[in-house]
Amino acid sequence: MSAEPAPAKTAAATSATAPATAAAPSSSLGNAQRGKELAYTCRGCHGVAGFKNAYPNYHVPRIGGQSEAYLRSALMEYRKGTRKHPTMRAQATSYSEQQLADIAAYLASVKP
Ligand code: HEC
Repeated sequence: MSAEPAPAKTAAATSATAPATAAAPSSSLGNAQRGKELAYTCRGCHGVAGFKNAYPNYHVPRIGGQSEAYLRSALMEYRKGTRKHPTMRAQATSYSEQQLADIAAYLASVKP
C-alpha cells in the first residue's frame, strides 16, 4: 500500500472584484448649458454667431470654439488680475469661478 499524498488544498480564489463603476472621466469642469445663459452679456462685445468681433473699430478676440482649458484659465487670470485688461477684468470679476468654468464649457462648444 502506498501512502498517497494528500491532495493539496487549493486556496479558493476569493478575490472580491469590485465592480468597475468609475464615473466617466471628464475634462470639463463646467456646465455648458448654464454657461450659455451666463455668456449672454459677452455677446455685446464678442459678437453673436461664433462670438466673432462685433466692433470692427477695436480688436476683440474670437472666443467661441477655443479650448475649454484655455478659456477657463484666461477668464481666471482676468478675475485674479494676472491679466490686466480692465474691461475683461470687470467681466470676469462679476462671475464666480464656477460660473466662469460654465462659460468656458459653453464657449468651447460653440462652432466658430
Ligand atoms: C465690453 C466689451 C467686452 C465684453 C462685454 C466681454 N469682453 Fe471678453 N474681451 C474684450 C476685449 C477688448 C478683449 C481683449 C482683452 C485683452 O487684450 O486682454 C477680451 C478678451 C477676452 C478673452 C481672452 C481671449 C484670448 O484669446 O485670450 C476671453 C476668454 C473673453 N474675453 C471672454 C469673455 C467672456 C466669457 C465674456 C462674458 C462674460 C466677455 N469676454 C465679455 C471685450 C469684452
